[in-house]
Amino acid sequence: MEQIWLNEAFKGKVPNGFQGKVGWSSPSNIALVKYWGKRGKQLPQNPSISFTLSECRSETFISYEKADRFGFQFFFEDKENPAFGAKIEKFLMDNQAFFPFVNQLHLKVESRNTFPHSSGIASSASSMSACVMCLLDIEYWLARIERQRAGIFSVVPQKASYFSRLASGSACRSVYPKMALWGATEAYEGSSDEYAVSLENDIHPIFKTYRDSILIVSGEKKSVSSRAGHGLMEGNPYASARYAQANENIKNLLTALKSGDLETFIRITESEALQLHALMMCSNPSFILMKPNTLNLISRIREFREETKIPLCFTLDAGPNVHLLYPENKADKVESFIKNTLSSYCADNNWIADHVGNGPKKLL
Ligand code: PMV
Repeated sequence: MEQIWLNEAFKGKVPNGFQGKVGWSSPSNIALVKYWGKRGKQLPQNPSISFTLSECRSETFISYEKADRFGFQFFFEDKENPAFGAKIEKFLMDNQAFFPFVNQLHLKVESRNTFPHSSGIASSASSMSACVMCLLDIEYWLARIERQRAGIFSVVPQKASYFSRLASGSACRSVYPKMALWGATEAYEGSSDEYAVSLENDIHPIFKTYRDSILIVSGEKKSVSSRAGHGLMEGNPYASARYAQANENIKNLLTALKSGDLETFIRITESEALQLHALMMCSNPSFILMKPNTLNLISRIREFREETKIPLCFTLDAGPNVHLLYPENKADKVESFIKNTLSSYCADNNWIADHVGNGPKKLL
């Protein structure tokens, strides 16, 4: 795959007067089977599956202008923020072979998130995928005559997924509507470690409108970055058992997603969330990212499921917040439960109503 994109890279001279502005909005995603542990050039140790979200998004604009050398500015929520931009700048410098044209451009990146910065929601998946969509749009403008001749009329999702992966692992799953699978598995033809594939046509309709209410236990910054967390898997005594189990979970979850088997969906999703945190607890050094209210919420959710038989379940990211997942047709009952019971365990009673969404949107 690398060779295809290297061959396709626009290597010509940027024409004089080349300038403009592109913009994309791209969503966050929440993994059901978790990616935790990587190898080589941002390749996953095991496949992962996620829901693409709808409301938690990054909106990114890039203004570009021909220049003598690479120029870069990054603005977050209207304020210049070189620290936030450093990851994008590094990505561009590390991948110059794919984007040689950036050495002839001044780029001004302006980004904002639709969710509060202090909500503890990781923004790297949404922001890096939005940024890659913009970059590929600029490349498309440069090469559009050849691309259109080849029958290509917009950014190719597989290419966007490949580069989003290089920018920030799980970002590669954000470029597809509904659900995505990243990582090679014999259970799914066409799956790859290098990019995610869409599961949109292989899931039961119930999952296409699934709800994700994000219960904000704490908005504090994570005490372990996901980069450090992935690194700790290298010395983790349970690593190989984990990768084997993740592969097994992928196989069974794919079957459950197709048939709409909610019992299996719930069992695998909750087990994956707890496993992710168990792995952090037994790494060296170890991390406990759950807070007392994370456990309180988990208990209340399980009790409510037992009592009402409503098929709601939870998952966790690498942090204390709880993602409450449930079918749309149970939304009224579950939302009353959130307002009456669960929100009291949330920081400032704060929760975000999200649901499965349709992937990136072009803004400009
Ligand atoms: O994409 P990264 O490097 O931020 O890692 C994401 C890791 C988890 O969010 C914990 C799991 C996942 O698959 O998204």
